[in-house]
Amino acid sequence: RYDEAEVAEIIAEKRGLEGPMLPILHDVQERFGHVPEAAVRRIAAELNLTRAEVHGVVTFYHDFRKEPAGRHVLKVCRAEACQAAGSDAVAGALEKALGIGFGETTADGQVTLEAVYCLGLCATAPSAMLGARIIGRLTEAKVGALVEEARL
Ligand code: FES
Repeated sequence: RYDEAEVAEIIAEKRGLEGPMLPILHDVQERFGHVPEAAVRRIAAELNLTRAEVHGVVTFYHDFRKEPAGRHVLKVCRAEACQAAGSDAVAGALEKALGIGFGETTADGQVTLEAVYCLGLCATAPSAMLGARIIGRLTEAKVGALVEEARL
């Protein structure tokens, strides 16, 4: 649950750093699982920035979430080697099977679908991760089983 005092503590701890915004955002996300709007407001106020500036950073880095993630996070590599191995078709099939786009979470809160840009597993492209489990050589034929697993 969101706790303003904890955000204040994180800010106090990191504000002396050069370029404190990223370390603060990382800590906030680690603590709350995402960067809540209230935290954006507080960070902006304390660092003398506009909310738009803080939002810009949260949006720019794919690592930050604005909403809490679903129970399972399915990351699909959309970088070149995986694309060359057919990841676009797999990604499209996953979107269709889950009924959501990338960056979204299913209405039941079970699955969040995210794009990543190279997992360092190009040799077994197309690559994906379900939670901490690595999945290689992902094909459209495997999408059904993967979605079923993610929905458990
Ligand atoms: Fe997908 Fe490297 S490009 S794992």
